[in-house]
Amino acid sequence: MKRIGVITGGGDAAGMNAALRAVVRTATQEGAEVVGIRKGWQGLAEGTTVKLHPRAVSGILHRGGTILQTFRYPEFATAEGAVPVERTLEKLKLDGMVIIGGDGSFRGGTKLEKEFGIPVVGVPATIDNDIPGTDISIGFDTALNIAIDAVDKVKDTATSHGRIFVIEVMGRHYGLLAAQTAVATGAEEVLVPEIPYDMDDLCRNISKGYKRGKEHAIIIVAEGAGKASYVSYEIKERLKRSVRMVVLGHVQRGGSPSGYDRILASRLGHRATEMLLDGQHGVMVGVVANKFKTSSLDKKTKAPAKAVLRDVGLMETLV
Ligand code: F6P
Repeated sequence: MKRIGVITGGGDAAGMNAALRAVVRTATQEGAEVVGIRKGWQGLAEGTTVKLHPRAVSGILHRGGTILQTFRYPEFATAEGAVPVERTLEKLKLDGMVIIGGDGSFRGGTKLEKEFGIPVVGVPATIDNDIPGTDISIGFDTALNIAIDAVDKVKDTATSHGRIFVIEVMGRHYGLLAAQTAVATGAEEVLVPEIPYDMDDLCRNISKGYKRGKEHAIIIVAEGAGKASYVSYEIKERLKRSVRMVVLGHVQRGGSPSGYDRILASRLGHRATEMLLDGQHGVMVGVVANKFKTSSLDKKTKAPAKAVLRDVGLMETLV
């Protein structure tokens, strides 16, 4: 009987549980045994594992976060930090692993393949959607919808008070989540790390908007483009107007996955497991134009968010 491991790594993303459920159900149907690594990469070092059977993953499809948990373990990148991981792997005697996570987890997966000979298939899951080889990663759609909902609400208040609001959206070094939030909410301005901005231009645009009769100004700031506190302060100083800021932060990561994320995660979890059991590894499975696409686990960097937006014709709609 084959024995595979499954781990969730990096920041949690809504839909990780749905992917995990698909992995366990698929593997069991194919007659394989599944070992869940609890507490992510740190758990792999500590050897905290749990046997997973279909009953253990029932009722989790709609739940946010990850029942396996995900604790970061940057030490794995070092020779010293890799020692306990190697020890756990020797004990577990796995025929392969499915890794559900983002770029950091795929770097870990590449190390498992190359240095420890463990066959690995990756499933992209991060709200940042910054992984090459897939149009979209698990968790992005849910996070986008949370951000849209939050901005819509803030907009009501902004209009009621005629105020400027600066709203910071997650995404680490990547501006896609912020840019798509801006498009979907009709924000007045968006600042992303991929496009340089000038504070004086920004303020001029805000003033022009008010002169044209706008009742508010919503400025979306990607966390990688600067702190909302800094942007708010600069606008307030220049325009001498009341400015408020909202940092959405981790609110965007949790909560029940959207229908889209549930389906995406179920498809990718199933496919990744089938591939691993068929002997394919060293790869990640994503979706491109709604079809499965296999790419190397050893990632290069994704095209900048600006290029991604241009490709799908969204760039022009940004104000
Ligand atoms: O990668 C997902 C993400 O939420 C990023 O958008 C953000 O920069 C980072 O994780 C925050 O990490 P942590 O939860 O460790 O603070």
